[in-house]
Amino acid sequence: MPDLPITLRRARPADAADYARLMGEPEVYPNLMQLPLPSEEQWRARLEEGLRPGSLDFSVVAERGGAVVGSAGLHPAPQLRRRHVAMLGISVGLAHQGSGVGRALMQGLCDYADGWAQILRIELTVFTDNARAIALYERFGFRTEGRHRGYALRDGAYADVLSMARLHPSPPRLAWPEPAA
Ligand SMILES: CC(C)(COP(=O)(O)OP(=O)(O)OC[C@H]1O[C@@H](n2cnc3c(N)ncnc32)[C@H](O)[C@@H]1OP(=O)(O)O)[C@@H](O)C(=O)NCCC(=O)NCCS
Repeated sequence: MPDLPITLRRARPADAADYARLMGEPEVYPNLMQLPLPSEEQWRARLEEGLRPGSLDFSVVAERGGAVVGSAGLHPAPQLRRRHVAMLGISVGLAHQGSGVGRALMQGLCDYADGWAQILRIELTVFTDNARAIALYERFGFRTEGRHRGYALRDGAYADVLSMARLHPSPPRLAWPEPAA
């Protein structure tokens, strides 16, 4: 199974059961800001919301052998003055972790941000002990900007997170020839 190719596609409301399954894995949700026993109905509502006309949300799933094995998204900041900013989230099911799914999802998000979506800054938070995620983010150009102490309750203990961000590596500029005199 890990040898099969990975494909990305937009998430759809019918993926709600797969989202609930992935986010319910004990090796996944503690590292996110999710809670135990995720609700399929809440995920369906969230995926439907993200597809409403005008929504700037970009949520994708990774498939391998026809099964959803991971998901990721870019969620634009709501303020007008932060139109160039999006928050990133990512998760891969335990059975497929460490086999390139995270890398494929990150590549898909960065290509979309850099080439299509006018996103110049991607932000995220990551628990300080999530070495695999931090290594993946650094490989895609994210840098640590700070540490939030006691940021979130995780299985009965307050845990620290790092704030990380990636700036567009070569932001596009408007350019055209000077008009002839
Ligand atoms: C973090 C996560 C998204 C990474 O996805 P993945 O599919 O497991 O990662 P990949 O296999 O694509 O790549 C991981 C990279 O980290 C490396 N790696 C693996 N374990 C590592 C570790 N403990 N420390 C440092 N690097 C590690 C791998 O060698 C690989 O490097 P490569 O690209 O040079 O081969 C995934 O493990 C996950 O969903 N974890 C649970 C949820 C989570 O933590 N989400 C992120 C919240 S901020």
